[in-house]
Amino acid sequence: MNVAESPTLESIRTRIEHELPVDAFGHALRTAQLARTLASAHGVDEDRAELAALVHDIADGLSDGELLRLADQFQIPISLTEARVPKLLHAAVGAEILRRDWGITDEEILDAVRDHTTGGPHMSRLAKVLFLADKIEPARDRHYGGLDPVRELAMRSLDEAILRLYGWRMDQLAATGGPVDERFIAARNRLIDQSLASRR
Ligand SMILES: [Fe+2]
Ligand SMILES: [Fe+2]
Repeated sequence: MNVAESPTLESIRTRIEHELPVDAFGHALRTAQLARTLASAHGVDEDRAELAALVHDIADGLSDGELLRLADQFQIPISLTEARVPKLLHAAVGAEILRRDWGITDEEILDAVRDHTTGGPHMSRLAKVLFLADKIEPARDRHYGGLDPVRELAMRSLDEAILRLYGWRMDQLAATGGPVDERFIAARNRLIDQSLASRR
């Protein structure tokens, strides 16, 4: 399937403006703008990157109970960590809602949405662009602070920027005693393997 068979960027923008709360809409627009910039720097199709970014948090407003119910209905496997932190499921559940209710059939876009929270072991460049844009869009400084070095890094190397963010997140989870999602570990190990292999 190609993007031409999916809804247009304009129709997606109009729909999310109506369906997302104001804060979430702002985050989607900022993520989309940065996704275009990163896509252009790394040879990724900018329209598809923008589209993925606009819709990536479509299930973010659902309650834990609703996410667990929909994951069950859509037959999405639930990891131990997702059972403890159902909020993580908004990525996979969102991808399925986009396929079923939004007419989005571009599998690479759906995979990118599915991997936007924790990452995954088989991320395309589009998925990496979305993962980073979501984490480092301008308003994220409010939560993390000091993201400019990662923004600069992301323009040069998607993998190195993701590894930097993973390092921070691991430190944060270790400090707060939070569980580390299995996909997060698999994605980080995969990037480290690839980075070591490229230096051999
Ligand atoms: Fe999200
Ligand atoms: Fe997001």
